[in-house]
Amino acid sequence: MSESPATGQQSQPAAKPRKFQAIKGVRDLLPAETPLWNHVEETAREVFESFGFGEIRIPIFEPTELFARSIGLDTDVVSKEMYTFADRDESMISLRPEATASICRAYIEHGMQSWPAPVKLYFMGPMFRRERPQKGRYRQFYQIDAEVLGGNDAPGIDAEVIEMIMTFFDRLELKGLELDINSIGCRECRPKYVEILRAELLKVKDQLGPDSQRRIETNPLRVLDSKVESEQAVIATLPRMAAHLCAACAEHFAEVKRQLELRGVIYRENWRLVRGLDYYMRTTFEIIAQGLGSQNAVCGGGRYDGLVELLGGPPTKGIGFAIGEDRLILSLQESGKAPAAPGRDVYVAWMGEKAFATAVRAAKDLRAAGFRVELPATERKFGKALEHADKLGSRFALILGEDEVSSGEWTLKTLADGSQAKYTETDLLAYLREATATPATQSGS
Ligand code: HAM
Repeated sequence: MSESPATGQQSQPAAKPRKFQAIKGVRDLLPAETPLWNHVEETAREVFESFGFGEIRIPIFEPTELFARSIGLDTDVVSKEMYTFADRDESMISLRPEATASICRAYIEHGMQSWPAPVKLYFMGPMFRRERPQKGRYRQFYQIDAEVLGGNDAPGIDAEVIEMIMTFFDRLELKGLELDINSIGCRECRPKYVEILRAELLKVKDQLGPDSQRRIETNPLRVLDSKVESEQAVIATLPRMAAHLCAACAEHFAEVKRQLELRGVIYRENWRLVRGLDYYMRTTFEIIAQGLGSQNAVCGGGRYDGLVELLGGPPTKGIGFAIGEDRLILSLQESGKAPAAPGRDVYVAWMGEKAFATAVRAAKDLRAAGFRVELPATERKFGKALEHADKLGSRFALILGEDEVSSGEWTLKTLADGSQAKYTETDLLAYLREATATPATQSGS
């Protein structure tokens, strides 16, 4: 027996067949669901591009150090959730748990500071975090992310980014969203507030659970995030950041709020919104959707001036957000936005060798004209073929038998009402173009 370099295991002479399943927390998206995913992604592209954003595509993995530095060593993401491994040259690599760090790395690597500012980028793709899987929480999940880098930190940028997200959700007709915003201050005022908060937390330490007690030392702000029921009354009495913002941060936050109002964006101020990643400063925000249970945050983001600098780049302003696409889709499904069945426009039912040659040609021409066509590879009796067409959600069946081929008059059946009509090849194309310009009631699944 030899050792396989790929698996590091002894190769078995005749391995027993094994039934594989997707790894816990990751899943397949099947054709009945993907039209909704594509619709969401196309809408994101349209809306983001209408705000002047361009698409960036980033690698699936990066040096572990990039995420550790950006997101912070003490965060859950870095300390517990990253998929990290040693590459063959012993360098440490992690699957991306989010996109902001990579986009900042790309900003520096491609000298984007010399591009017209601000640089507006969007990205969509899978992320990886080893969390406990549950509804709306996966180990491979999808984010739709956007970042604005460079230029100044005008509050109008914060407000426009939030306006863009709400425009996107609105375009998807996602109802019942709650937008929470906060300011967590800057390098000047936040450390002072954190000390005041820590001192207060120490006074009420015995009323807090073990996680919050630990966070008094590691990251007191995260105590504000606690969902533990018994801690809520104590947390409500703690000092608030808003009262400790420096003049510049207070002014910035007031202007963000004024501009949100100017843009017709409805928000709620939430002094306990601190976010779980270390790079944030000033504006933070989160959006909660309906029908998702405990994993109900569909979007999170905020300002992160200084992150590019931390990664070895020039001083750079930055703000962005990520939408959890899996949760967005769940919420759309819960609100009754059923995914459109993939379906077919035309099912080509054929019988006989001569008819098959015509069917192949007809399918080719119909596909070239942009129709979704199903051409069965083996002969089926017309009755069976029509059943099959129906199951596939076909709108029309083109029936080609010996008679149709010799007369040049093809039969087209409308599956919704069973009506039939004859067309010549040229008339058929014209008719189908006209008929499919109006949406039909879908038959089949
Ligand atoms: P985040 O809050 O860690 O922020 O993630 C953003 C969104 O991703 C969450 O609100 C949620 O919808 C979704 N999400 C996170 N983890 C999971 C999971 N395990 N399963 C399903 N969905 C999940 C960030 O990632 C920041 N990079 C956002 C940002 C961009 N800030 C500035 N720029």
